[in-house]
Parts: sequence; structure tokens; C-alpha cells
Amino acid sequence: MQIQILPSLLAADLGRLGDELRRTEASGADAVHLDVMDAHFVPNLSYGPDVVALSRATVPGLYRHVHLMMTRPDRYVDAFAAAGAQTIQVHVEADADVHATIAQIAAAGAKPAIVLNPETPAHAAAPYIGETDEILVMTVHPGRGGQKFIEECLPKIAAVRRMAGDGATVMVDGGVNASTAALAAAAGANAFVAGSYLFGRGDMKAAVAELRETCRKSHAAEA
Ligand code: DX5
Ligand code: ZN
Repeated sequence: MQIQILPSLLAADLGRLGDELRRTEASGADAVHLDVMDAHFVPNLSYGPDVVALSRATVPGLYRHVHLMMTRPDRYVDAFAAAGAQTIQVHVEADADVHATIAQIAAAGAKPAIVLNPETPAHAAAPYIGETDEILVMTVHPGRGGQKFIEECLPKIAAVRRMAGDGATVMVDGGVNASTAALAAAAGANAFVAGSYLFGRGDMKAAVAELRETCRKSHAAEA
């Protein structure tokens, strides 16, 4: 199964965003993960479509993976797609018709994906399997970087993998480092978002390669 590594730009040095995007591309990562917070779905406020557009302008070849932590993602999907979002993730807990929002994302030319908060059970993803093949299991409470990985989420990763099948992308986000990524991979995850761990390393390229290898081994050991 293909392992994906996605650095989260939230942990970048915002004063040097262009350089940080170039560093992400040069690291060999599969995508840049852009965290959008609306100060309502989560208390924090981050950035909007302009940063997605900046990413497209700076490193056009780096895949743009956008995580909408928003109460009403449906109101912003078209703006993010127009700014260059290639995958758009929406939370099943959003105050929106998630089926319709998934259709809206696809109609806007992006790939839809869904997200489960730590307290949301695996079966909440069931109605959307068939409409999306990417499920993100949050391993921290969303809203900020640098938190501790919640190990209680591991059985849910396994349950989502069983439900979605081998062909799906099962992603984790929050508190991911070499040791927690190994646990998540062994539980069935194949895609890993990491902010502070990857941006905090001087040599992001080496860090991405190491994380990929760790995940590949842990995933294979369980297969
Ligand atoms: C949390 C965000 C994450 C965050 C991860 O709300 O969805 O993508 O940037 O940060 P780390 O890897 O530092 O936990
Ligand atoms: Zn995220």
C-alpha cells in the first residue's frame, strides 16, 4: 500500500512562507497539508484561500491538500477549489449536508475527503464510503499544532480500515512523529500528516524519508 507523507504548513515559519513551501516540495513529501480554521468549528483562526493560491503560485507541482475545520465548509468549497485546492477534506461533524458538500467538492474539480474528530466513532464514516476513498482520523482535538497523539484513536483507525477496504486512504493527523506514526501504520493508516515534527527538523528531506520508511515497515509488518 502506498504511504503518503503530508507536512502541515501550520508549523511553518509564517514570515518565510514561500521558502517553507519550497522546502516542503524539495523534501519529497506527497503534498502540503493546509489547515483552515474558522474560529467557530475550532477556537483558532488560521488562513484562507489566499494561502492555497500562494502555494499554487510558489510551488505549482506540490499537491495542495486542504483540511477545512469549518462549521460551514459548503460556503467556502468553491473559493478553495478556485484557489487551487486539489483535495478538500470536510468534517462529518460540520453543520452542513456532508453528502451535498462532497458532491460540491467533486463538481468543483477537487477530490473530496472526510474527517472524524477523536470523539466521533468509526461508523460515522459509513454513510460516505463510496462517495470518498479518503478518511482522516484525527489523532488530536483539532485546532492547533504541537499536541500529543491520542492513542485511544488507534482502534478506530483499524475499524475505518476494515470498513473502507485496502484501496482506501486512511489518514492520521495530530501528534504524528516517528513512534506514533509507527503505531498508526500498524493499526492500518497509510497517510500521515505531520506539522511540528517535520517542520521542526533541520533536514526535512531526511525526516520525510525516515518517516516514510518507518510507516512502510510498520504497515507491512501488520499486512
Ligand atoms: C490540527 C491540524 C493538524 C496540525 C498537526 O488541528 O489539523 O494538521 O497542524 O500538527 P502537529 O503535527 O504539530 O500535531
Ligand atoms: Zn490538519
